[in-house]
Amino acid sequence: MRHLLDFQDVNKNHLENLIEKTRSLEFKSENIDSLALLKFDEPSTRTRLSFAIAAEKLGIKTFESSDVISAKQKGEILKHEIETYISMGIEILVLRTKKNNIDDYREFKDIGVVSAGFGNKSHPTQALIDISTLFSLNKINEKLTPITYIGDVKHSRVFESGRQLLNLLGFKVGVFTDKNLLPENKNDLEIYESWDEVFESSNAIELLRVQKERLQDNEEINFDEYINNYQLTQEILGKSQSDLAVLHPMPINIGIEISKDAIEDRKIKYKDQLSHAIPSRIAAFKYVRDEI
Ligand code: CP
Repeated sequence: MRHLLDFQDVNKNHLENLIEKTRSLEFKSENIDSLALLKFDEPSTRTRLSFAIAAEKLGIKTFESSDVISAKQKGEILKHEIETYISMGIEILVLRTKKNNIDDYREFKDIGVVSAGFGNKSHPTQALIDISTLFSLNKINEKLTPITYIGDVKHSRVFESGRQLLNLLGFKVGVFTDKNLLPENKNDLEIYESWDEVFESSNAIELLRVQKERLQDNEEINFDEYINNYQLTQEILGKSQSDLAVLHPMPINIGIEISKDAIEDRKIKYKDQLSHAIPSRIAAFKYVRDEI
């Protein structure tokens, strides 16, 4: 059984298979008769539902748990938790957590672990959605950076996985944000200073929510300043190229990263992303089961 915790151990051929499967948008019922546990220790609308539906379509029976209802509260260690799942025939653990202990899961051999949003480290199936959407919209092209991420890249796992996936495919990504919201590792990034620079260099942008739940005690966001400098408005959209694609992984905070007047613009493509949600989770299940 493989893991899909991030793209660290995924070779290029498998990456292309994952993207191809995510782009196929076709659901073929199969009966592979296995068990998966969806363990979500943080809230989710899209990811949990689409993993559950993807599993149903593949004939995988799912169960749900979380730290709140498990024996974690009573001091259980991770090894014993995972041994319990394996002993009960759980083949795949789909995990959403606020923790950053991703490496602790790589060692488990008899269960495939899929990140459904891991701390601020990874959200690989969201990256598959985003990059597949870019391919479908023909935005992976000759521009310097196929996509520029706008906003709170420092705390965003969507950004970390998107960046990792695009790097492995040979692309750099752009970033346009406040200097306090830049990640520590900036090696593979093109950092832009204005909307004009962004539009010159990328035909797609991805807006990111300010990840309030991941701000440290010593980190403060001046929201007025943030909105003033980085909120996407109808006026800014009016200055962009006609074929700009605006992505957002959701949930969207209207009034912060995007204004109320801009959200209905035809350049906003979150529905295109949503159409890839179930296929990306089908691809993830197939990947961990060594089927693609
Ligand atoms: N994009 C995303 O992960 O959405 P949810 O938090 O609703 O799962």
